[in-house]
Amino acid sequence: MDNDIEEILFDQASIHEAAHRLGQQITKEYTDSRPIVLSVLKGAYLWTADLLREVELQVELEFIKISSYHGGVESTNEISLVTDIHSNVKNRDVIILEDIVDTGQSLQFMKELLQERGANSIKVATLLDKKEGRKVDIKADYVGFDVRNEFVVGYGLDYKELYRNLPYVGILKPQIYEQ
Ligand code: PRP
Ligand code: MN
Ligand code: MG
Repeated sequence: MDNDIEEILFDQASIHEAAHRLGQQITKEYTDSRPIVLSVLKGAYLWTADLLREVELQVELEFIKISSYHGGVESTNEISLVTDIHSNVKNRDVIILEDIVDTGQSLQFMKELLQERGANSIKVATLLDKKEGRKVDIKADYVGFDVRNEFVVGYGLDYKELYRNLPYVGILKPQIYEQ
């Protein structure tokens, strides 16, 4: 699997530092709240585990599963809600956890959903922010790293459902896409 990687962009140690930094920030800003942490499957599974262990607060963990890339490298612009949450978000503070914000369409979809359901506040903590990829005007509140406009895999992020279990974020060798 490592043989398919052209370059490592963020290794385990730097991801851990980012989780610690954002975890401290969130801990400070939500002292009087008991936020719902909404982890976006599948991509955010490792980020959720690492970030939440750096948050020293009572939180409720929920998972939502949406899909827009359907395993490929391009957003399909069509977002499907695969698995919804069951808890009530009305008047609650929600923190969405994402592995990456790219076009912003997934995030927009979820924010609208949570707003319609009456969430009190909605913030977003993402490991990676690909600002150049935006197609909608939306910002993440907590960002681990800005990432350049290249397709990245690892640490939750997939190409055709593979590479999610790499412990780092990297770029695939071009020949992998050409196969
Ligand atoms: C990826 C990623 C984010 C979203 C970001 O998920 O994990 O959730 O796309 O892209 P956007 O800002 O352009 O909407 P994907 O749809 O690939 O599903 P997955 O998490 O199951 O891989
Ligand atoms: Mn995702
Ligand atoms: Mg994906």
